[in-house]
Amino acid sequence: MTTSTRCWLLACGVSLLLPVSTVHAADTHDDSEPQGSTLCTKIPIPCDAVIAHRGASYQAPESTRPAYLLARDLGVDYLELDLQRTKDGVLVAVHDNTLGRNTNVAEVFPDRVDAPVSSFTLDELEQLDAGSWFNASYPDRARDSYSGLKILTLDEVIDIAEDGKNHPGLYIETKVPEQFPGIEEDLREKLATRGWLNDETKSRQAAEKGAVRVGDTPGRVVMQTFSKASLKALETAMPNVPRVLLLWLGKGGIEAAPGKPQGNDESTADYYARQQVASPEAYRSWLDLAKAHGAIGVGPSAVQSEHDGPFSSQFSYMDLAEPWMIGMAHDDGMLVHLYTVDEPADFERYQQRGVDGFFTNRAERLLEFYGHPPQDQDAILKRYGY
Ligand code: G3P
Ligand code: CA
Repeated sequence: MTTSTRCWLLACGVSLLLPVSTVHAADTHDDSEPQGSTLCTKIPIPCDAVIAHRGASYQAPESTRPAYLLARDLGVDYLELDLQRTKDGVLVAVHDNTLGRNTNVAEVFPDRVDAPVSSFTLDELEQLDAGSWFNASYPDRARDSYSGLKILTLDEVIDIAEDGKNHPGLYIETKVPEQFPGIEEDLREKLATRGWLNDETKSRQAAEKGAVRVGDTPGRVVMQTFSKASLKALETAMPNVPRVLLLWLGKGGIEAAPGKPQGNDESTADYYARQQVASPEAYRSWLDLAKAHGAIGVGPSAVQSEHDGPFSSQFSYMDLAEPWMIGMAHDDGMLVHLYTVDEPADFERYQQRGVDGFFTNRAERLLEFYGHPPQDQDAILKRYGY
C-alpha cells in the first residue's frame, strides 16, 4: 500500500458514517490471514495508523525538530507529542516530568534537576540542550548537528506538520495533566488559533496529491490521555476532536492480578511482561469509561518480543492487547492503537490480532511493514542540515 492508495474519509468525499472501501495492509496478505477491523472506515482516522512516537525518535532525539521533520517526510500519519505547559503558559512538547534524562539541565540549572517542567519558563527551557544526551546514549546514531537542539513549543511542531509536502496530523497526549489545570482549554485555543479545529484548515494550503493528507481531514488531531479527568476535560473543551484513552495496568490504571514480587535479577521489561489484568471486567470498566466520554479508541500498552535490546527495553510494557481485549474494544466500536512497538515481528503479531495502528519510534520500519518503499533517512536528515 502506498500513501496515495490510502483512503482518507475526507479525500474520499463520503459521509463519516458510511463504510467505504479502503486498502488495508491486510489486503496485501494472504486471504487466509485475519483482517484488521473496519472501524477506521467509519471513524475519521487512517486505517493502519502510523503514529511517530515523539517523532522519528530512533534516529533523532525525541520530540526535537529533526525527529519530527524526519517523521513527516517519511510519510507518517501522525506526529505524536506529549503536551506540557511552561511556567509562563507556553505549550511545549516534552515527555518527562523533569528534564534530567534528555537535557543538560544539570549543567545549566544544577539545583533544578528534579524540578518539574512546569516550573521553567520558556526562556529557561530554550537555554537547554535537548540533543547531546542522544549522541552520548546512542553513538551509532549520533550526529554533531544534534548537539544543542532545542525543546519545541507546540507552535513549532504545528509549523513542521504544516510546512512540508506531507501534512501529517497531530496525536497529542496531555502529560501529567493534574499539574496543568485548564491545559485542555489552552490547547483548544491554540488549535483554533492555528486553524486545526473543525473546518478551519480550508484556509491552509492542501497537501500535494499523493502526499499524506491526514492534516487536512477531520482526523487531523487526535487527543490521548491516561487520565480519566483529562479525558472528561477534553470532551468538554473539544467535543468534536477524536479522543483516545491510553490504557495502563496497575496503579492509576486497570486493576492488575496479584503477582509475585519482582526478583532481584528480573528486568523491568520481564516484570511488565508477566503482569496480567485482574479480570475481563477490570478491562471492561476502562472501555466503558472511554466510551462514556466519547473516545473513538483506546491505546493499550504492548509487550515487545525483543525487549532486551538497547533501545526497545524502555518501551516494553504489559500486553494489554490480547486478542480478547482487542475484540472487546472493537465490539464497542473503538479503534485500538498500540504503544510503543518497534519490532517487525511485533507489528506482525499484533496486526494479526487486528490492531488499527501503532505508536512507534521506528516509523521507517512500520511504514515498510505497511507496504511503503524504503526511504533514505540519512538523506532526509541531511536535507535539513542534520
Ligand atoms: O502516548 C502513547 C505513549 O506515548 C504513551 O506512553 O510514556 O511514551 O507517553 P509515553
Ligand atoms: Ca505519549
